[in-house]
Amino acid sequence: MSMNVQMPQFPEPYWRELELQGFQALMEDQSFDITIVGGGIAGITTGYLLANEGMKVAIVDAGKILNGTTGHTTAKVTAQHNLIYDEFINHFGEEKTKLYYESASTAIDSIVRIIQEKQIDCDYSQEDAYIYSISDKYAEKIEKEAEAYKRLGIDGNITNSIPFDIKIKNALIMKNQGQFHPLKYLKKLVEEFIKKGGVIFENTTAIDIEEGTNPKLITRSGYKINSKYIIMTSHFPFYDKKGLYFARMYPERAYVIAVTTKTAFPGGMYISADEPTRSLRYTPYNGEKLVLVSGENHQTGQGPDTLKHYVELEKFASEVLGIESYNYRWSTQDLTTLDKLPLIGPITENHPNILTATGFRKWGMTNSMTAARLLKDLILERENPYFDLFSPSRFNTDPSLRKFISTNLDVAGHLLKGKLEFVPKDPSDLANEEGSVVMVNGKRAGAYKDEDGQLHLVDTTCTHLGCEVEWNHGDHTWDCPCHGSRFSIDGEVIEGPAKKPLNKLQ
Ligand code: FES
Repeated sequence: MSMNVQMPQFPEPYWRELELQGFQALMEDQSFDITIVGGGIAGITTGYLLANEGMKVAIVDAGKILNGTTGHTTAKVTAQHNLIYDEFINHFGEEKTKLYYESASTAIDSIVRIIQEKQIDCDYSQEDAYIYSISDKYAEKIEKEAEAYKRLGIDGNITNSIPFDIKIKNALIMKNQGQFHPLKYLKKLVEEFIKKGGVIFENTTAIDIEEGTNPKLITRSGYKINSKYIIMTSHFPFYDKKGLYFARMYPERAYVIAVTTKTAFPGGMYISADEPTRSLRYTPYNGEKLVLVSGENHQTGQGPDTLKHYVELEKFASEVLGIESYNYRWSTQDLTTLDKLPLIGPITENHPNILTATGFRKWGMTNSMTAARLLKDLILERENPYFDLFSPSRFNTDPSLRKFISTNLDVAGHLLKGKLEFVPKDPSDLANEEGSVVMVNGKRAGAYKDEDGQLHLVDTTCTHLGCEVEWNHGDHTWDCPCHGSRFSIDGEVIEGPAKKPLNKLQ
């Protein structure tokens, strides 16, 4: 085992070391019962469940499957979605909150059942989940959350200690939650999906939909897929027909480092209630425990220097457990809706055969299973208790409206700020492997100088709605502060809602 405590040079999630089968791009027009856009955990689970029901299903991914949020998660399989239940009871009432909790705990049961039935070796372990406070303000919130647990019948209790050298005020335990290796689990689901006749197309970018009784998905290469239903599980739905999804969700980035530690990790999964968030869990790793330390959340494109987030996590890990070796680092992006509930169902009331699942916040493992089950029931016209709760057409003005307004003001502010900003830097000021917004011929541009001193220049105007992208130093990407689109050093789309690359400049 290497004893390297240096920050790994490039961000790369531990999960992605697992080798996955590759798939061909779509090369001709085709027809299926269902077409799913987005090969992450939500798309693959939905495809798996529908293929099990005898449906002919295609999954289409713009890049490689399992390389987006799913490949970058911390993979906690839990219904402890941070401090949420007291807030939900206040906003939605006890009945709806109970439904939300039930949806998450049923999702865990479904995941465990699949693991057992298919005998998937994916490092699943049952663990208690803890949320802890270090300030009086959050200690009080935890007391209230514990009350909510009681009202909802959640198995858990308050404690005054956690097995770390962290001075906490209190902590709330949710019993018998879980964790796993998400890609080992999903690799098996992909195999089963293929066995049942499912088809996957990689490097196939969906750019439009022709609506109708049998909607057609149009790809960038000009091919069409005909099907009864199109499901978008591609983070931001690429086609939203005035559903205005980009105004109803905001993107947040979070960071993860994976280390082996001097002090043995005691087991359990932990998250701080206080900001900046700190989260801890382990995963088995060559006979040892690899500890995933995550947190440092911030809205996408709005942090000054993203590398500093990794440094903060490293400091925390050193203080709490001591770092033996620093093995991986990566970052991830999550979408939060205005009322914090996912959006699952038809994109608008008038589009019963174009469905979406998005806005999972940081809890995609359980929310994706909830989405997959709901979408399957919707298509097969079966009962499902969660249709209304997650319907994208739900209308909750409070507290959504307040957040809606501030999110959009924030976006408007960024539109203006980016355009008016004076940028004194010139491309020649850059060192190798440095990126920055610069001035080229009196215009704002994005410049990155690679390890060979070669300059990569892009227009910083986001191709989604025209905000100005910012340089993400930690991940070497161009990130948009408005709705979270992300682009490579050469402007290629890494993550939507933008569909077109940034313009390249000479
Ligand atoms: Fe919407 Fe950039 S992501 S403007």
